[in-house]
This record gives sequence, structure tokens and C-alpha cells, in this order.
Amino acid sequence: MKTIPWWQTAVFYQIYPRSFKDSGNDGIGDIPGIISKLDYLVSLGIDALWISPFFKSPMDDFGYDISDYCDIDRIFGTMQDVTLLIEEIHKRGLKVIFDLVINHTSDQHPWFVEARSSPDNPKHDWYIWQPRTDRETGKPRPKPNNWIGMFELTNAWRDNDATDEWFLGTFTQHQPEVNWRNPDLKNAMYDVIRFWLDLHVDGFRMDVVNWYIKDEKLRSNPFSWRVNPDIFQKHIYDRNQPETHDICREIRGLTDSYDGSRVLVGEIFVRDVEIAASYQGNGNDELHLAFNMEMLYIRWSARVFAKTIARWYAALPGSGWPNFTFSNHDQPRHATRFGVRNEDHQLARMQIIAMLLLTLRGTPFMYYGEEIGMKNVRVPHSEMSDPSGKTFWPLPLGRDGQRTPMQWSSAENAGFTESGVLPWLPIHKNYREVNAEKQQADPGSLWHWYRKLLAIRKTHEELRTGRFSFIKKGKNSVLAFRRAGETGLIECYLNFSNRKKRVGLPVDVQVVLGNFRGEQEKLPAGRLELAPYEALLVKI
Ligand code: NOJ
Repeated sequence: MKTIPWWQTAVFYQIYPRSFKDSGNDGIGDIPGIISKLDYLVSLGIDALWISPFFKSPMDDFGYDISDYCDIDRIFGTMQDVTLLIEEIHKRGLKVIFDLVINHTSDQHPWFVEARSSPDNPKHDWYIWQPRTDRETGKPRPKPNNWIGMFELTNAWRDNDATDEWFLGTFTQHQPEVNWRNPDLKNAMYDVIRFWLDLHVDGFRMDVVNWYIKDEKLRSNPFSWRVNPDIFQKHIYDRNQPETHDICREIRGLTDSYDGSRVLVGEIFVRDVEIAASYQGNGNDELHLAFNMEMLYIRWSARVFAKTIARWYAALPGSGWPNFTFSNHDQPRHATRFGVRNEDHQLARMQIIAMLLLTLRGTPFMYYGEEIGMKNVRVPHSEMSDPSGKTFWPLPLGRDGQRTPMQWSSAENAGFTESGVLPWLPIHKNYREVNAEKQQADPGSLWHWYRKLLAIRKTHEELRTGRFSFIKKGKNSVLAFRRAGETGLIECYLNFSNRKKRVGLPVDVQVVLGNFRGEQEKLPAGRLELAPYEALLVKI
């Protein structure tokens, strides 16, 4: 029998460590906090964790600016805490991947401190530089091109007086981009990868993979009408350069040289799924998974969802494996994006998303708090942390709102930290109603819905690995599909509208799970009326 790699059948759960659980009572989540909640994740039915960065960092981009790849920031704990975390995760039969942020470092990283000190420094070429002054005429030069620093909305070429040069930083001015064309830099990064694989990490979520290599001629990007996430540029010269695929192949080779069970999940920061899929190479030679980001941007429409799903499946290479995600730390939570005022409808809509995520063919990625329907917080300007939030204010494009503390209970500070402590970001004022403890005690809650779906996924191989085919592609607001496995056949019916809808059942079926029907209920072949926002899973 063909063995199926664990990451194809696992359900991942993303933890943003600053916001998950604070054990040190400084208002910031930490590694011991995560350890204390592992049993919670087991009881929910999660299989694997992706933990956003907790490495040493000045926190200009809250950990996505690393000043030491092989140490953890004291805010989060110690290296002993991390090794214990890995051990405790494995002890429970779970897997864990860490964030690998190797497109840029922090400007406080010793590599950059050395590199910027002199053009003759051996590490100078580890970063990307351009002279500010024309060496022949002695006159100031214009900036090399129009590339943009996304989080500050400035030109991405930043001053370095010591060498009279600019360095490149397309996020903040504190995140200099490394030069992947330099073999020593490459080897240093590969050592970082080995360091964590040696500590038994099960793989990596790789930050902005498609940024690694830049156009050799540094050409300016042409104009685009797309605002988010492209900011009015077609990024044909600063992203997605063909040589990036060589790096992906090398990192895949390195990872596979371990025991073949480690996984690489790439953040390909684009909306075009064809480009994202290309980073999975032929399905076996580049990244195991390239994130499909499209679901983070689309509107509530069965037709649009169906098109997005179809496009993704079509884009992947023959032996490539899909993945789906609806929320992460960079985009507004889907409970807000797809939110409605009517509370019953809100719950039903979240049930539809959960059922979709956990029954499509592909690896699901959940975001902490999605299991209880956590919503974005409107963080006032005075309490903002995110650099992009401050730049774009008053436009609501900052990311603090989706990174607020996990709502554990109705205790003060939502059980995230001790009462009296000020959490690093404000907690949603709905926490007395929307919290894990309360929902665990309520069998009709969203938490229990997720838990049931996760359990159903574990006992139905057709949902994990079965073939996928559409029954209804969103026409008349109904999205329906079939998953056919070796042993079973399951169908999923989702009514995206607030009106009743009719569908036809070709044969008699039995309910596996439904938000408006009892489990085990038998439904005869023929006409079936779906309630507004009904989510229904049936077995044939
Ligand atoms: C993508 C990450 O998801 C985001 O949070 C971060 O700010 C940028 N990359 C820069 O590392």
C-alpha cells in the first residue's frame, strides 16, 4: 500500500505566540504558555502546529525581523523551553513546524551590523546594495528603481551612511533583504535549517519564498491597479524570479536528506494560484506545499468559492497536494470578513467555512481562535503595534486586529494573562461570550462543530485522501461536492444564502453532520430543501 505522508492528512493550527497564552504575566504570550495549552489542542483534534516566529528579535515586525536564528527571544522563554515544547508536542503524537524567515534579517542581526560597516567586510555582499553616489562624476544618483517598502509605503532603498550606499528592504527599513546569489550567505542559511531539523522540528513554514531572488538588472515594476496586496505595482522584477526555484530545490534536497518526513510549506505572497502552485515544482522536487492565499481575499459567494477551489486544483502539478486556509496573522479574520449581525446566521456561516475547510481535498490550516469564531478587534491608533497599521491608518489595513489575545475564558483578560496585567494588544470586548471555556461547555457551539468535523476527518479516509468532484458549482448559492475514497462516498452541501434552497439527492443518504439536522438521520432520494446557511455532510 502507498504510504501517505503525515502532512497530507494532518490538520494544522497556526499559533501566533505573542497572543496565545501568557505564562509570565507580562502581557505577551510565551512558549511555556503554549505548552500549557497543548492538551486543549489535542482535545480539539489538531494534528500539527505552525508556530509564528519566536526567535531573537528587536520586534520591529513582531518577530519577522530576526537578529539570531538559533536563539529564542527572552520575551518568549529560553532554548530549554523550546526543546521542551518540541518534546511535549511529539509526546502527544503531534507535529510542529517553525517559521523560517530567510528573505531578510533584522538590521540588528550581527551579519548586517558587519555588512553595513564597510564595503570590504566579508559579509558585505550577504545583503543587496547600490551606490548613492556616481563613482565617476561624484554626483548623487537617483534611487535604483521604484520598488516599494510595503509597511512604510516608501521607496525600498534605504540609506547606509557608513558605505554611502542604499540597502534593499521591501518590508520595513529594519528588515534588510539578504543576497541569495551569494554562496556564503546561502550556506549560512542552510546551517540555520540544519540547526532546527537537528532539534527534531518537523519542517518549516517559509516566509515570502517568492521574494528571495531579485531581478539582476534591478528594473522598475510596471503599474498595477491592484491595491491589496500589490500596492499598485506588478511585482515582476522584485518577486517570482526563476532562480528562486533553484533555491527551493536545494532546500527540499536538504530537508529530504533528514528522514523524508519533514515538510516545507511556503508562503508565496501572491493571489495568482498558478504562481503559488509553481513553487511545488513537479510535485516532488520543490516545496511540499505552497500556501493558497486566495481564500483570504474572496467575498462570500458560493460561485466565487467554487471558482477558487477549481482554479487551485487545476493549477497544481499532477502529484502536487493542495491546501486551504481562511485566516492568518496577515489578513482580517474570516469571522469578520464573512461576518453578519444576526448571531444565528453568523454561527451558521462559520459552520459552513469550517465544513468546507475540513472536507475539501487538501491540507487544512486553521488560525488560533477560529474554532471559537474570534473576530477582529478595531485597535485604536494609540494602541497600535503593527508598523503597517500605523502607516496605513486611518485605512483599516493594519494587522493588529487579527492578532489579539486568544479568548480562553470569561475571566478578566479572557484568561490570556493574569488580571491587572495589560495585554500587548487589546482583547475583543465580546470575550465573555466568545471564549473557549464557554464553548467547550456548550455542545451546540462552534468549538464542538470543529471538534466533530476534526473527528469525522480522522475516521473517514475519503475526506482525507478521496477524489474530489463538484456536484454544484455555486449556482443558486449552493456549493456541493463529493469525496470518493476506497471505502466510502461522502457528499457535502453548503447553502451560502439566507433563503431556503432546493437540491436533488440522487440516492438515499444518511446525515454525518449537519447544523440543521440530527446525526444519523436518513434522507430519501429526491428533493431536499436546505435551510438558510445549512451545512450538511452526508454519506451514501
Ligand atoms: C510575511 C509574514 O506573514 C508577515 O507577517 C511579515 O510581516 C512579512 N512576511 C515580513 O516577514
